[in-house]
Amino acid sequence: MLIVVLTIGVALAIVPPPPANQDLGIYDTLCAEFAEDDCRACHSSGVPDTHHMLVQTSYGCTDCHQVMTNPDGSTGVGIIRNCVECHVTSPHHETQEAVDRHCSYCHGSFVDDYDDGHSIPTYAPSLITPDTSYTAIDNTTDKKWGGCEACHEPDSTSVPPIYSNPETHHNLGTLSLDCGICHGDTSDGGNLLDIRKCEDCHGTISLHNIQYDYTSTKGELGYGHVGDSWDCAGCHAWYVAYSDAPQTGPIIPSIDEVSPASMLAGVETVVTITGDNFENTVNGINYTSEVVIVNDAGTMNVTPDSINTSEIVVTISALDAGNYGLRVVKSGMESNLVPIVVVPQVTIDSATLRRSIVTIRGSGFSDGSYNGWLDVTVNCEGSVLESSIVNWDDTRIVVDCSSAAAGDEVTVNALHGSDSATIG
Ligand code: HEC
Ligand code: HEC
Ligand code: HEC
Ligand code: HEC
Ligand code: HEC
Ligand code: HEC
Ligand code: HEC
Ligand code: HEC
Repeated sequence: MLIVVLTIGVALAIVPPPPANQDLGIYDTLCAEFAEDDCRACHSSGVPDTHHMLVQTSYGCTDCHQVMTNPDGSTGVGIIRNCVECHVTSPHHETQEAVDRHCSYCHGSFVDDYDDGHSIPTYAPSLITPDTSYTAIDNTTDKKWGGCEACHEPDSTSVPPIYSNPETHHNLGTLSLDCGICHGDTSDGGNLLDIRKCEDCHGTISLHNIQYDYTSTKGELGYGHVGDSWDCAGCHAWYVAYSDAPQTGPIIPSIDEVSPASMLAGVETVVTITGDNFENTVNGINYTSEVVIVNDAGTMNVTPDSINTSEIVVTISALDAGNYGLRVVKSGMESNLVPIVVVPQVTIDSATLRRSIVTIRGSGFSDGSYNGWLDVTVNCEGSVLESSIVNWDDTRIVVDCSSAAAGDEVTVNALHGSDSATIG
């Protein structure tokens, strides 16, 4: 069974910040720092399946694989496994959701969307309004207050390195060329570093609900934005808080791991999700989460079988084959999105023999145009030569095999899996 483990987000536990811990959201680094393993951590749900699902639509094997000729003359696929050999720039920030500035599609409610109706103050920034960098600095200790840099600072000694706020925001491909998304218009004398533009994505509603493991860290400084009044001062400088911040409630949930992340089409699957802030209580109100599955066709909400603050067990009803995303939603607050793949099940219902002809019936065999390729063969007393496959379609494979006898085992190694049966 495959699982998603975010290796790149392992807790640093640096308290107090800066730099901030890396338990929530995406590790504060550049796409180029993500190694193959880090891509796989989020895309663990059967990377070949993710790609091979594209075969049904627009891609052929040779679009991604070179044809290799083996010493015995048979052909096979050349396999490149390192993601970044093919995905050379951040693929995420060229997606339609990113272009539409719906960053929360993947980043969850750690950010707001400019068009989701969240409120942004219209008054001029005051002494307690956080600055994009900082409003006060202690010149002897270099400790900053009153802005994001009070806690979010780079750290080149971390592995991978933690980058500065301008660096993380300025390396998102073509997206970063659109300065006006994040900066004030200077042509009319406006301030380039206008916090109100940042608030398009970092509004009070998201900022006041970011806290790692709220239930355990409420009252402690350094684990987020609303643990202790030290955190409030990080953003608000002179403002000393004695109560909860306005709009704090359903602290944003975060997913670390989904197991299994790869599921079989048409089969109900019990999935375990681990992470944090799946449940919390603020001002006597209890907030709890449900699980949401998204794909191009829409969304499906599922109530967990069991839930506590760090684990959800949920039964996902049968889905069609395809690529999906999974997130946890708590009173409108969305976690990060985790990709999951639902693959067609390869099932042999029967294998029969008539003279030398073996007929295998079932489902999920997909297309036979790639028979003879590595791992995609019908075994009957050894691999069957391409020439002896008479027909191969999604539900029926016909093989001419003169040595076959009743009782022999037949194995279909199809694109999405394999199954065996005995010739009856
Ligand atoms: C923090 C988690 C995370 C990491 C790390 C990650 N991805 Fe993704 N990736 C996602 C999510 C979420 C999506 C969107 C899935 C959806 O639309 O349902 C996605 C989508 C994609 C897509 C499809 C884009 C499209 O056009 O729809 C590609 C390609 C991709 N990732 C490749 C990579 C590569 C290569 C790496 C390593 C450099 C990587 N990913 C690292 C989470 C991640
Ligand atoms: C969109 C790109 C793409 C297409 C199209 C594609 N593949 Fe792949 N395939 C990959 C990638 C990437 C891997 C390596 C996955 C990994 O390392 O996890 C892979 C892996 C494989 C593997 C090795 C499986 C393993 O993990 O050992 C086989 C066999 C294979 N592909 C066969 C095919 C055949 C046959 C076709 C055509 C029906 C095909 N592929 C189409 C991208 C593709
Ligand atoms: C041999 C080249 C190749 C390699 C290696 C490769 N990919 Fe891809 N991948 C493609 C192509 C081609 C597509 C389809 C076009 C696109 O969306 O960019 C694709 C699409 C994807 C998608 C989107 C699938 C969809 O439904 O649109 C994801 C996610 C993805 N790749 C992740 C990965 C990850 C993670 C790795 C490494 C483990 C990886 N890829 C390695 C070529 C490759
Ligand atoms: C399809 C999913 C997806 C969408 C949509 C998306 N991101 Fe990302 N983002 C990722 C993934 C995965 C990473 C890490 C790998 C990478 O950089 O590609 C990332 C990394 C980042 C980082 C650096 C990491 C950090 O914590 O500082 C920033 C900044 C960022 N994205 C901003 C944005 C902005 C702004 C938008 C909307 C305009 C957006 N993203 C939309 C998936 C997405
Ligand atoms: C008092 C310290 C402090 C200040 C000031 C601060 N943050 Fe944070 N922030 C944190 C901590 C701690 C986390 C949780 C990090 C973790 O565990 O991943 C966090 C997490 C976040 C996250 C969630 C995603 C991620 O990368 O972890 C966003 C988005 C964020 N902060 C934005 C901001 C913005 C925008 C500002 C300035 C307006 C700001 N922060 C100021 C301490 C601070
Ligand atoms: C996705 C958001 C985003 C985009 C797009 C963006 N920036 Fe920035 N920029 C930031 C952030 C965040 C900072 C850090 C602010 C701070 O520390 O006060 C920053 C800082 C700056 C600074 C201050 C100097 C520095 O590097 O610290 C300048 C100048 C700047 N940006 C110019 C630009 C220009 C020019 C563009 C367009 C080509 C652009 N930015 C696009 C987010 C963005
Ligand atoms: C278009 C949306 C958008 C705008 C505008 C924007 N950011 Fe961000 N910001 C993001 C996203 C997305 C992340 C990554 C959240 C995550 O880690 O999942 C992020 C993360 C952050 C973080 C947390 C540290 C980190 O790198 O994750 C800080 C601090 C931050 N932004 C500051 C700023 C400042 C200052 C501005 C204005 C100059 C700004 N942002 C403008 C989308 C935006
Ligand atoms: C990550 C930065 C950040 C942190 C940390 C933070 N806030 Fe805020 N807070 C904001 C922003 C941004 C606003 C909007 C004010 C503005 O733009 O002028 C705001 C607004 C407020 C307001 C004014 C309410 C309104 O809607 O006008 C109060 C009161 C407040 N915060 C209290 C707190 C308290 C109490 C804490 C600590 C428990 C806290 N804040 C922590 C960023 C933060």
